[in-house]
Amino acid sequence: MAHEVHDVAVKLAREAGELIVTRRAGHIEVASTKSSDVDVVTAVDKESEEFLYTRLRELRPGDGFLGEEGQVEESTTGVTWVVDPIDGTVNFLYNIPHYAVSIAAVTGDPSPVSWQVEAGAVFNPATGELFHAARGEGAFLGERRLQIGPPPPMNLALLATGFAYSTAMRKEQVRILSQLIGEVRDIRRMGTASLDFAAVAAGRVDVYFERTLSPWDHAAGELLVTEAGGIITGIRDLAQGREGIFAGHPTLVTQLKARISEVGGDTLLQDVPGWGLE
Ligand code: IPD
Ligand code: CA
Ligand code: CA
Repeated sequence: MAHEVHDVAVKLAREAGELIVTRRAGHIEVASTKSSDVDVVTAVDKESEEFLYTRLRELRPGDGFLGEEGQVEESTTGVTWVVDPIDGTVNFLYNIPHYAVSIAAVTGDPSPVSWQVEAGAVFNPATGELFHAARGEGAFLGERRLQIGPPPPMNLALLATGFAYSTAMRKEQVRILSQLIGEVRDIRRMGTASLDFAAVAAGRVDVYFERTLSPWDHAAGELLVTEAGGIITGIRDLAQGREGIFAGHPTLVTQLKARISEVGGDTLLQDVPGWGLE
């Protein structure tokens, strides 16, 4: 099963990637906004999702679909495809060559609390890098197998993170980061969550932490990390998901999680000052 859906994920991530990189050669503009003025969608996000939805119906009839741009289909086979048709849309808009198509096949209820990720592909068409994994079969960058190395001490760890689209949350995130910046090697905000997980799996950053992600931002990425020997966990004793997600070597994740808790970075979203008032 994992192998079968893996091959479909890889094939379609490449196909959609080719589509979006071709469109990027033309004129790209904001088509609409979502949760806030800076949470943008281009026509290509929608086109890429429509393309993937159609292709999956051809190749895997009966499978479910959960896409960022609104396509939802219930599964009759037990498999659901969790899709971010362009992850890193702001990078795509500005032609920063760091965006991706992220596709995962999950079984069980398609929610991070209960899903089992069977396969995932994260393809950056601007660089041609393809990260992929099948459950129990390892994580790969192209043909190279990925394995997370021994963790550095926290003060030498390169930390990746991202910011929410909510102003209240961004202020809270900066407050937490202002504590952490003196305690780690440095901090990266690269703008594409799926590629942040891929970077953890490939050893390009040591640890990653973000809050307010949606299922399609992390479904494929979490398998890359666990198949490379890392762990995925949420804040407090919650499952990974919207409240928060950590990825990296178990030792480093445990240390970072404890430190974030100490500086009050695990306040539930509903209790963050200003949350929900925008
Ligand atoms: C966003 C990116 C970004 C992360 C945001 C996501 P989008 O996805 O992955 O890195 O910080 O939380 O929403 O909107 O470009 O698909
Ligand atoms: Ca995304
Ligand atoms: Ca997206």
